[in-house]
Parts: sequence; structure tokens; C-alpha cells
Amino acid sequence: MRNVTVKNITVLGSGVMGHGIAQVSATAGYNVVLRDIKKEFLDKAMEKIRWSLDKLVSKEKISKGQGDAIFARITPMIDLGEAVKDAELVIEVVPEIMELKKSVYAELDSVAAPDVIFASNTSTLPITEIANTTSRPEKFIGIHFFNPPQLMKLVEVIPGEKTAQEITDLTLEYVESVNKQAVLCRRDVPGFIINRLFIPMVHEACFLRDRTGATLEEIDSAVKFKLGFPMGIFELADFTGMDVIHKATVEMHLRDDKVINPHPLVEKMFDEKKLGQKSGEGYYRYSDDKYERVSLSEELAKKCDPIQLVANIINNAAWLVTNGASDIEEIEKAARLGLGLRKPLFETARDIGIKKIVAELNTLADKHGEFYRPDPLLVSMV
Ligand SMILES: NC(=O)c1ccc[n+]([C@@H]2O[C@H](COP(=O)([O-])OP(=O)(O)OC[C@H]3O[C@@H](n4cnc5c(N)ncnc54)[C@H](O)[C@@H]3O)[C@@H](O)[C@H]2O)c1
Repeated sequence: MRNVTVKNITVLGSGVMGHGIAQVSATAGYNVVLRDIKKEFLDKAMEKIRWSLDKLVSKEKISKGQGDAIFARITPMIDLGEAVKDAELVIEVVPEIMELKKSVYAELDSVAAPDVIFASNTSTLPITEIANTTSRPEKFIGIHFFNPPQLMKLVEVIPGEKTAQEITDLTLEYVESVNKQAVLCRRDVPGFIINRLFIPMVHEACFLRDRTGATLEEIDSAVKFKLGFPMGIFELADFTGMDVIHKATVEMHLRDDKVINPHPLVEKMFDEKKLGQKSGEGYYRYSDDKYERVSLSEELAKKCDPIQLVANIINNAAWLVTNGASDIEEIEKAARLGLGLRKPLFETARDIGIKKIVAELNTLADKHGEFYRPDPLLVSMV
């Protein structure tokens, strides 16, 4: 029997993700308290929310009255005890630093009523480990929105080892209520679903360049036109930011060194502050703040065989299935909504031939290490 109804949500952290999560929650009718540690951060966040709502009004997606009502449902606040006083659900969106998250939860746990649900928007940190530092691991869950939350439809929901089924159900309902599509990552595995597919592929694309001499544009064209990505993998990495990719790499590798075969270029670019579009240079150069698309073509795609990339992403997808974190249907849904894939991954793999992919993975494993050995699921599909 359900004994919690969520009406009041507190969002901890008003940065890139937090202000967006507050906005989508208020848009769905929740009363939202947005909490940060300094007034200036909150002022900036409220300004961004106002700007975003005004834009929706000018595009006639919502009326002026609706925009005002949504904005009025968000209360910025600094005092933590006051901020969580009425909350049924707290969504934590503070920086991706384990020690910081743990200290935030220690403080939160001491002021929030025992039945308040804690949801972390972490991209890569272990849910169970954070949950176990609180007095309520059964009421703790991962809720991974994508950037920007106002636009991205996908939310990964990740129960920890002790999360109660009721809390998972409630979280899935909340995600649906804010007009997003949830994908359940059934086990708290490094990278969850999307980052497990995406982050290792960025490294693999660097290796593909080294091994074949293909150019960035040729690889990106193949990724776009042969794999059905909305853009090239290097373009996507630049768009995401090499700081985000490097951080995710470190955290995922720390949890399980078999997840990623790290290419040194990712760390080098991070150290040299070549962060992608935000810094003006990543894999490509960008002349100003405006987002420019790299020129990719089907002609260029012909010059690159992306089988290593397909093999890498499909091997990780298979790993998620074999290890009980997901199933093929959910992975395809996540890849469509989270990576914008126009063609299902397993369809691409079948078009190339699973047998050929397994052979490629075995060749790569013999040459470059066990990291590449094909997952038993792929072997069984041959
Ligand atoms: N940026 C992304 O693309 C992205 C995407 C998905 C998930 N995430 C995850 O979301 C989380 C936040 O990332 P972000 O990019 O929004 O970070 P951010 O640095 O933009 O924002 C974090 C905010 O948290 C605030 N903060 C710090 N300590 C706090 C506390 N004790 N209480 C309340 N607020 C506090 C900071 O002042 C800052 O405003 C991370 O776990 C990150 O991995 C980020």
C-alpha cells in the first residue's frame, strides 16, 4: 500500500542541472524549494528559470499566467532545515565529488524527517555507497536527469541495493509526472546505462583514429551516417565537455577498471583545458560561443569502417543485459532518448553481422587485451 504522496520537492543545488530540475518539477505542479549555499547562486538560478519560462511564453508554449504561476511555485532558500521542512522528496544535485555528496547527506539526514525520500542526480557515483552513509538506504535512489533537464526526455532511475520497491515505483511515477521518460537501471553499475555506452566509446574512437589513421571528420561521419547518431562521437564529446567526460572516466574506472580502456588523450585534453565548445577547443576548434556544427558527410563516412566502435558499444550493451542491469528494449529506449540514436544499436549490429563483431572483438582482445573479449550474450547470439 502506498503511504507517500509527493507534492513538495526540495532540490539541493541550483547549478546547471538543479535549476532545470526545479523548473520541470514546478511546471508539473509540484511546490519546489530550491536550495543552494549562497544567495548569489540562487539569484542566478532564478534568473535562468525566468529567462527559460519567458522563452516558452514568447514561443506560445505556455501563457504568461502559466509562466508566472510556475515561477511562483519555486522558492529559493539557503537554510537547509527550513528548505526540507515540508518536502516528501529531496533531489540532490550538488557537484560530483563523493566526499562533498557524503557531507551534504550527513547534514541533510540530520534535519530531514525520517520518511523523506532522497534522490541523487549523480552521473557516475555509486548509489549504494552514498545511500549507506544515510540512516535510510531503503529510501534512497538514483535519479539521473540529462542536460538540459528542460529539454532532455530521458531520466535513468537507479535503485541501490537496499532501495524499497515502493520508492522505485514512486520515483518512476514522479519522472512520468514531469513529462519525462524513465529507464530503470536495475543494478547500480558504473555509468548506469547511457554513460556505460557513451564514455567508453569516446576513448575507443581515439584508439580507432590511432589504429587506422582515419581523421576526426571521417570517424564522426561514419558515426553519424552509419551508426545513426545525431552527430559524430568527437562532436558529441566536445558538446558534452571534456571535463565531464574525464570526470566520468575517472569515476567509472575507479569502480571497475574493466569498463573503460582509457585513452591518454582524454586526460591530456582535460589537463590542457581543451574542454570542447565551452573552452573554444576540444577535438575541434570553435571560433566563438555559438554552437557550430562540424561538416560531416556520407562521402567522408565511406572512408571509415566503424566496426570497432560498434563492437565496443554493443559489447557494453550486452554486458548490461548479461549483468541484469537492463534489457535490450530498455537499452534501445535509453539510447534513442539519451544519445539521440536514430537506429537501434542491435539493428546496426545485426546489419554488420553479430558473428563479424564477435570475431572483431576477439581479434582486438588478442591484440590489445582482455578488455575487448566479447560478452557471452553476443557469443550466444552468433
Ligand atoms: N552538468 C551535466 O551535464 C550533468 C548531467 C547529468 C548529471 N549531472 C550531475 O548533476 C550533479 C550536479 O551537476 P551540475 O553540473 O548541476 O553542477 P553545478 O556545479 O553546476 O551545480 C552544483 C550546485 O550545487 C551547489 N552546492 C554545493 N554544495 C551544496 C549544498 N551543500 N547544498 C546545496 N547546494 C550546494 C553549488 O553551489 C552549485 O550551485 C552532479 O552530480 C553531476 O554529476 C550533471
